[in-house]
Amino acid sequence: MSGAAPALARAALPLLRQLNPELAHDLGLAALKCVQPLWPALPIPATLAVRSFGLQFSHPLGLAAGFDKNGDYLDALGALGFSHIELGTVTPRPQPGNPKPRMFRVPGSDALINRMGFNNKGVDHLVSRLARAQYRGIRGISIGKNFDTHIENAPDDYVACLRKVYPHADYVAVNVSSPNTERLRELQARDGLQRLLGTLLEERVSLQQRFTRRVPLLVKVAPDLSPEQLSALAREVRSVHLDGVIATNTSTDLSALEPPPAAAQRGGLSGAPLHPASIRIISQLRAELGAEFPIIGVGGITSAEHARASLRAGANLLQIYTGFAYRGAALIEEILKALQS
Ligand SMILES: Cc1cc2nc3c(=O)[nH]c(=O)nc-3n(C[C@H](O)[C@H](O)[C@H](O)COP(=O)(O)O)c2cc1C
Repeated sequence: MSGAAPALARAALPLLRQLNPELAHDLGLAALKCVQPLWPALPIPATLAVRSFGLQFSHPLGLAAGFDKNGDYLDALGALGFSHIELGTVTPRPQPGNPKPRMFRVPGSDALINRMGFNNKGVDHLVSRLARAQYRGIRGISIGKNFDTHIENAPDDYVACLRKVYPHADYVAVNVSSPNTERLRELQARDGLQRLLGTLLEERVSLQQRFTRRVPLLVKVAPDLSPEQLSALAREVRSVHLDGVIATNTSTDLSALEPPPAAAQRGGLSGAPLHPASIRIISQLRAELGAEFPIIGVGGITSAEHARASLRAGANLLQIYTGFAYRGAALIEEILKALQS
């Protein structure tokens, strides 16, 4: 992409990589906000359009949850050309997340380990941002529970978030797969999932009547589920007619990393080493959910080749996080070009 703003961004990336990754993330977003008015629009051919869970996406590629947890940068990120942006994960009340440092680069590979722990300014802040944003792409909102809400009461937190984001969301992602909130992943198992999705779908019936609009509900899953656990989840998702699945979140399995990370760098792995696990999950979901079921493929997409492989495995749409953190807008352009050929 040509232009002064992209050239500036390309020059800034190696400098940002010298800094602590969370600081680099925050500075990068602040800088992006400044250059946003100068950012040239990406030409998107109509042939890349995708229709999924009732929504029209201008192309398959979106930004994964966690990059803009509070909706503070929706317009700036949107200007880069993502077809959809998943904001959040938000919780009912603001919370600081885990103590810093909590995000680590993995030397020698396009990967991160994080244990952010749902740091966010709370759902009310996000909603106020959404009301003011201009972004015309698809707005997904990822919802979760506060760290100090007992797992038994988790559905109350998700319902509280759903009620508040409903009028502002194009779709809602139910995040039950972050490894950094204690016991959260238990909500992927049959009983927890049945109760949570049942409660949310019931709530949606009344929200749909009230707002005369049906907002799709998707669930985001972990890459660490066994084939049996994933089958059980797929059965549940199908039986309640959920609108889609997002696969996958970060992984607690760090065994792919050589040398292993320092003991202090514990958390969820994302980026290139996650791609094989993400592909395994997407492929199994596609096989078990059938050809039509919407799947958003995320995890380890750090090149156009990875993007193609995730689509071949069965994803209808794609999202990136770590590849974008390392490579910036150049990765969006590379993937969209490859998808046109
Ligand atoms: C620092 C960081 C924070 C994240 N926060 C969230 C989050 O709040 N909610 C969520 O669903 N996923 C979150 N994720 C997971 C990403 O959305 C994505 O599923 C995962 O990183 C795999 O994609 P990638 O390999 O392209 O990064 C986070 C990832 C990272 C690296």
